[in-house]
Amino acid sequence: MTNNSNTPTDMGRRTFLSRAWKAGLALIAVAGSWTTLDILRSIRSSGLGGIIRAAQATDVTEVPLYIRGAQSYLTLIDGEVVALWQRCPHLGCRVAWCDSSREFECACHGSTFNRAGEVRSGPSPRGMDRFAVAADADIIEVDTGTVTEGAPPGSESIDEPPTGAGCSGHAT
Ligand code: FES
Repeated sequence: MTNNSNTPTDMGRRTFLSRAWKAGLALIAVAGSWTTLDILRSIRSSGLGGIIRAAQATDVTEVPLYIRGAQSYLTLIDGEVVALWQRCPHLGCRVAWCDSSREFECACHGSTFNRAGEVRSGPSPRGMDRFAVAADADIIEVDTGTVTEGAPPGSESIDEPPTGAGCSGHAT
């Protein structure tokens, strides 16, 4: 008596299992690709490192305008739009604009920066870094993937001394 394992029923089961495995693997590959593309798309369009459509050009004035999505402040310096990265060059704390002194202040260790982001006092080794900006029609776009380091201390290019008390209460 022989036991032939290649009966029509066995062949049908093998074919079915083989196709099921292939279909399952294909499904996993498609799901993985889809997830990867989705992550890359969201980083490029809305996260730091991408281009952010930040504001109407007419909304940018000499009073810094905070753009949360670009982690930066837009302001006019000599009629030109600049985007100052909020990250303090010292140790990375968030720099805030102070209306009363009309300076940027870092509450962590007291660095201050003028309206152009140039370092005025404190331990910061340079001014606030800048992102590249461009205009698309009347929309200001901030390219958070293109960074220019701030100038070293002693490089103030605007004559705008503090106008009042600071906001952080940090002694410098
Ligand atoms: Fe801003 Fe230290 S992190 S002064």
